[in-house]
Amino acid sequence: MHAYVALPVASSFLKHNIFDVVSSGKSIFDVIEEKQANPGYFNIALKMFESLGWITKHDDACYEVTNLCPSDNASISKIVTTYSVPFEEYIGREAVTTDLYLNQLDFSKLQDLLPTYDSHKDSLSSLNYLSNGAILLPLLYFLKQASKTNSRDFEMLDSRSKNCIYQFLFKNEVVLKADGRFIESDFSDLGQALWDSVDNAGVTLSYRPLLAKIEQLLFYDSKNVFSEIGKEAHIDRELNVIGSGAQHGVFFKGFIDHIADYLAMKEVDNLQIVDMGCGDGTLLKSCYDSIDRKQKKEKRVALIGVDLNKEAISVAHKTLEKVPHHLCVGNINNPQRVLTHLEQQLAASITI
Ligand SMILES: C[S@@+](CC[C@H](N)C(=O)[O-])C[C@H]1O[C@@H](n2cnc3c(N)ncnc32)[C@H](O)[C@@H]1O
Repeated sequence: MHAYVALPVASSFLKHNIFDVVSSGKSIFDVIEEKQANPGYFNIALKMFESLGWITKHDDACYEVTNLCPSDNASISKIVTTYSVPFEEYIGREAVTTDLYLNQLDFSKLQDLLPTYDSHKDSLSSLNYLSNGAILLPLLYFLKQASKTNSRDFEMLDSRSKNCIYQFLFKNEVVLKADGRFIESDFSDLGQALWDSVDNAGVTLSYRPLLAKIEQLLFYDSKNVFSEIGKEAHIDRELNVIGSGAQHGVFFKGFIDHIADYLAMKEVDNLQIVDMGCGDGTLLKSCYDSIDRKQKKEKRVALIGVDLNKEAISVAHKTLEKVPHHLCVGNINNPQRVLTHLEQQLAASITI
C-alpha cells in the first residue's frame, strides 16, 4: 500500500528535480518558492519521503538526500501512467471486461519497464520495491474481486494475460512457479497472506484518481483535482467505503464488543445506534450482529446510518437490507439538521 501511494509522488518530485534542489542545501521555503509548489501538500510529501528514509532533516528547514533516493525518473514515469487506468470500473463485470482492463494496462510492455526487485537486497523503501508494489497492489485486488464475481479459478483470463501475470507474480514471490495455473497451491506463504488481506487495500486504492493527478496537486492548480461539482473527483467513494468495511475484522472488533456489553447493561426499551459517516454500513451491521437475539427484541434495536455521500448510502442500503435500519444523507458538521430530519422521518416509530 505504501508503494502505491509513494510511487507517483516520487515520480513528480523527480520530474521537478526536487531532490537535486533539496540536496543543494537550500531551505524548504526557498525550494517551495523556486519550484512554485503548493506548500501544504508539498510538506506532506516531504514527510512521506522522510519516513521512507529518502531524505533526512538536518535542521528546521533543510534536508539531506540519502543514498536510498533515486536520481532519475525515466524508469518510473511510464509505470505511473497506469494510474490513469480505472481498474475499479472493471470490477464486478463479466469476463470479457477483465481482459479489456488487462489490455489497457498493456501488461506485457509494462513488465519490460519494471525493474527487478530482489527481496534479499532491496529494502521496502527502494524504488525497485515501490515500482513493483504499485503495480502488484491493484492487480491482486482486481484479480481477487474478479475471481469472486466469476467464481472460477482465474479462468476469466485469456492465456496470454495469464502467462504475463503469472510471471510477474512469480518475480514478486507471490506464486512459486513461473508457469502455474493460479490454483491455491501455487501461492507462496507471502502470496497467500497478500491474497487473504488484499480487500483491506480498498481504501488506499480508492485514491487512485487523486494519485493519478498528484503532480497537479503538488505543483499546479490543486483545486482542479477536487473540483467536479456534485461528485467527488479525487476518490472512488464506493471502493473507499467497501475497503473501509473490509478492514473491520481487524480494527473494530474491540469497539463492537464494547457496544454489545454496553447494551446488555442498559435499561431501555427502544434503542437506536447511529453512525455519523456510516460508509457502507458494515460497522452498523457488525454491531447489530454482535447483539444477542433476546436483547435485540427487548430493546427494539434499530440502526441509523448518516453519510455525506449518496454513493455510500446506496451501498449501505444493500449491506443493511436484512436488518431494521434508516439511512439518510447528512453532514456531521451540522448535527442539528440531521437530528431534525430524523425526527421528522421517524417521530412516529422511534425515539432518538
Ligand atoms: C472511512 S468511512 C467510515 C465508515 C463507517 N463509519 C465505518 O466505520 O466503517 C468514512 C465515511 O464518512 C463519510 N463522511 C466524510 N465526511 C463526512 C461528513 N462531514 N459528514 C458525514 N459523513 C461524512 C464518508 O463519506 C465515508 O463514507
